[in-house]
Amino acid sequence: MVIISESKASRYSGYSKTQFRYGMTYVVITFVVLLILNIYCSQTCQELFYESKKTSMVEKCLLASDEIGKLEVLNPTTVAQAVSQMESLKVTRLIVTDTSGSALFDSAGEAAGTYVLFPEILTAMEGNDVCSWKYHDGTVDTRAAAPIDYSGTMVGCVYITEYDTVQGGLIQSMQRTVLRISLLLEAVVILFTILFSFTFSRRLNRIMTSMRIIQEGDYTHKVNMGGNDELTILGNEFNDLTERLKNSEEKRSRFVSDASHELKTPLASIKLLADSILQYDMDLETVREFVGDIGDEAERLNRMTAKLLSLTRAEDAASQESEIIYMAPTVRRVARMLKQNALQSKVSFQLDLDSDTPILILEDDLYQIVFNLMENGIKYNQPGGILSVRLYREEDNAVLQVSDTGAGIPEDALSHIFERFYRVDKARSRATGGSGLGLSIVRTIVQRNRGEIQVYSVLGQGSTFTVTFPAFDAEVDKT
Ligand SMILES: Nc1ncnc2c1ncn2[C@@H]1O[C@H](COP(=O)(O)OP(=O)(O)OP(=O)(O)O)[C@@H](O)[C@H]1O
Ligand SMILES: [Mg+2]
Repeated sequence: MVIISESKASRYSGYSKTQFRYGMTYVVITFVVLLILNIYCSQTCQELFYESKKTSMVEKCLLASDEIGKLEVLNPTTVAQAVSQMESLKVTRLIVTDTSGSALFDSAGEAAGTYVLFPEILTAMEGNDVCSWKYHDGTVDTRAAAPIDYSGTMVGCVYITEYDTVQGGLIQSMQRTVLRISLLLEAVVILFTILFSFTFSRRLNRIMTSMRIIQEGDYTHKVNMGGNDELTILGNEFNDLTERLKNSEEKRSRFVSDASHELKTPLASIKLLADSILQYDMDLETVREFVGDIGDEAERLNRMTAKLLSLTRAEDAASQESEIIYMAPTVRRVARMLKQNALQSKVSFQLDLDSDTPILILEDDLYQIVFNLMENGIKYNQPGGILSVRLYREEDNAVLQVSDTGAGIPEDALSHIFERFYRVDKARSRATGGSGLGLSIVRTIVQRNRGEIQVYSVLGQGSTFTVTFPAFDAEVDKT
C-alpha cells in the first residue's frame, strides 16, 4: 500500500480551484444571459400592450376632437355639454384647451381655467396626433392628444389620459413569471455546476493520485475511472502507459541483474585464481598458468562489457542517419577480421557476394550484424566445417544469409537465442567466451533498420540465419 503524504495530497486541491473557477464562469454567463432575456421579455411585453392601447387612445382622442370641432362657439359651457354627450368615451381624464393652452374643460376639475402645457398638448398644438405611455407598479399610464379642427383652422386641442391597472397587472404578473423561471433556471445551473465540478474534480484527482502512486514505484496500480467519456479514455491511456512502464522497468531490472550475474562469474574466477597464487606455494609453471587464466577471464570481462555497451547503444538509438551501402565490402572486411579465428577452428569460408543490392543502413550497424553472425558461424561450427555467406535479392528485399555446418540449435532453444544472455549450452559457450549478447544486438539493429531476421536450424547439420532489408531502390520508389 502506498501512503500519500499530506503535502502531496494538497497539491491536488489546485485542480478543484480550477474547476471552481470554470464553474463560476458558467454561472455568471448563464446569469447574464437570463438577465438579458428578462429585460427583453419585459420590454417586448410592454411594447405589445402599448401598441394595442395606442390605436384605441388616438381613436378616442380624434372622436372627441371631431365632436368638439362641430361646435360653433368654443367655451367651457359648450365644451362641457359636448363632453357630457360622449359617455362612451370612458377615459380617466379629459382636458380640452383653446389654442393658447388654457383649459376650457377638465373632467378632473383641477385644471379648468389654467394653462395646461403638457408635452402631448404642445405637440397637438403643432397639428399632430400624439400618444405616449408610462408603466409603473402594475399601472399603464397612457396619454393622447389631438388638435381640434374647425373649418380647416385649429381652434384648440383634446387631451385624454387613461390609467389601466388590468393590463398593468398582466404585465406585472408576466414579468414575475419570467423572473421566477429565470431564478429557477439559475438555481438548476448552479446545482449542476456544483455537481459537475465535484464529480469532475473527484475523477481528475483519482488520476492524479494514481500518478503519485506510480511515481512512488507501485506499477501494479490501476486507475478505474468508470463512465464513458474523455476522462475514461484518459484513464485507460494512463493504465496502458503504466503497463508499458512496468514492462520496461521489469526488463531493466532483469537486465541489470542478468548483467551483474554474468559479470560476477569471471570476477569470482579472477579472485579465486589470485587467492590460490597467494595462499599456496606453487612452482613458476603453475603460477604462469594461473596468471594466464586470470588474463583470459579479464579478456572475457572486457569483451562482455564491450558487447553490453554496443547493446545499450543499439537499444538507445531512436533515430539515426543512414547511408546507402552495398553489403559485400562489409562481409569481406569481417571475413578478413575473422580469418585467424576460422583458421584456428579449422572452418573455411564460402562467400557468394555477387548479387549484392544496396540498402539504407549505417556501415557500423551492418558490421555488427555480419560480425556477430559470422563469429557464431565459426564458434559453433565443427573442425573442417564450412561457413557460407550469401548475398542475393528477393523481390524488393536485399538478403544476407549466413549458414554453417555446426551442431545446430535445438528447436526449443530457437525462440530464445535472441534474448539477452541466453546461451544454449552455458558451459560450452563460456569455454568459447560467449556472453549470450551477440544475437540480441543483431536483432535490435536489424529491427531498427526496418529489417527482419529468421533462423533455420537442423540438429547435427547446421544453422542458417537470414537477414532481410528493404532494398534501397524499392524504398525510394515507395516515397
Ligand atoms: N550458428 C550457431 N550455431 C549453433 N548455435 C548458435 C549459433 N549461433 C548462436 N547459437 C547459440 O545461441 C546462443 C546465443 O548466441 P549469441 O551470439 O547471442 O551469444 P554468444 O555467441 O554465446 O556470445 P556473444 O555475446 O559473444 O555473441 C549461443 O550461446 C549459442 O548457444
Ligand atoms: Mg555470438
